[in-house]
Amino acid sequence: AKTLWIDTDTGSDDAVALVIAFKYPGIEIAGISVVAGNLGHDKAMQNALYTREICGAEHVPVYVGLGKPLLRAPFHAENVHGIDGMGDIGLPLTGRVPNEGHGIDKMIEAILARPGEITLVTLGPLTNIAVALAREPRIAEAVKHCVIMGGIGDGPGNVTPTAEFNIYADPDAARMVFRSGMKLVMCGWEVSCRYAVVEPEDTAELKRIGGKLGDFCVDIQKCLIEFSTKISGLPGIDLPDPITMAIALDPSLVTKCGDYYVEVVNQEGPTLGQTVVDRKNALGKAPNATVIDVASREGFMNMLRASVTA
Ligand code: BDR
Ligand code: CA
Repeated sequence: AKTLWIDTDTGSDDAVALVIAFKYPGIEIAGISVVAGNLGHDKAMQNALYTREICGAEHVPVYVGLGKPLLRAPFHAENVHGIDGMGDIGLPLTGRVPNEGHGIDKMIEAILARPGEITLVTLGPLTNIAVALAREPRIAEAVKHCVIMGGIGDGPGNVTPTAEFNIYADPDAARMVFRSGMKLVMCGWEVSCRYAVVEPEDTAELKRIGGKLGDFCVDIQKCLIEFSTKISGLPGIDLPDPITMAIALDPSLVTKCGDYYVEVVNQEGPTLGQTVVDRKNALGKAPNATVIDVASREGFMNMLRASVTA
């Protein structure tokens, strides 16, 4: 069976990615670490714990992680997922207590205990992963793959013309991770815009078939739907973290990808946070990431439907 470690800044689409992972048959989640990103760390933590509870997954440990980027001021995006990060629909998102221990220590321990077995899935800024790598560089070799929701493989950004949120929020951490030698799979934001947009008829179906989890996955997107339709101009809700999770669980959902050298811009200026993908190998450098180009929308939707009915 596949074993995951998940790192998340739990906002409303991270929560759906967690539902998919909690409900996917035959996998083990060794642990979840929380990181600040879309939201401050405390809110992200409460959202992760609430999602764990409604999935009945209390056996999966959820640990605190880092509360701000390595070198820069926190950059949140409460306009995208709501003030509480879960659509501001009035969920009771307080008072839950994380497991004891620090997420970075626990992540390192878990990875080193089972070399070559753990797939790391990152759904937020890469702060925790960069610090884990700095503390214990051997995890770069010991991780099976690190599947990253972050960056732009091809197309415009969602926070600047060239940058995606998770990379932009902590570009120094992202740069460290992309230079670490870890086997990386990059699921850029455009992948979700092309293959993971949940349209009105899909949300109606999720609610019809999915009981309380179907309602949860749809209702918490109340703010995201405004953003993705009005600002991003999409026909529904784009779900970057869920499609990244789906691909980590079932790599056959990827129908086209390529291995490229990817550099992260961490210098101030208009391209801060850009993932520069050297598709023509102009720099002659060895590839450091597999960049996803095309994925199966139908495969993703099937997994999403299965997770709310499981
Ligand atoms: C990323 O930022 C957040 O809006 C999502 O949770 C995702 O991780 C997309 O840029
Ligand atoms: Ca996220």
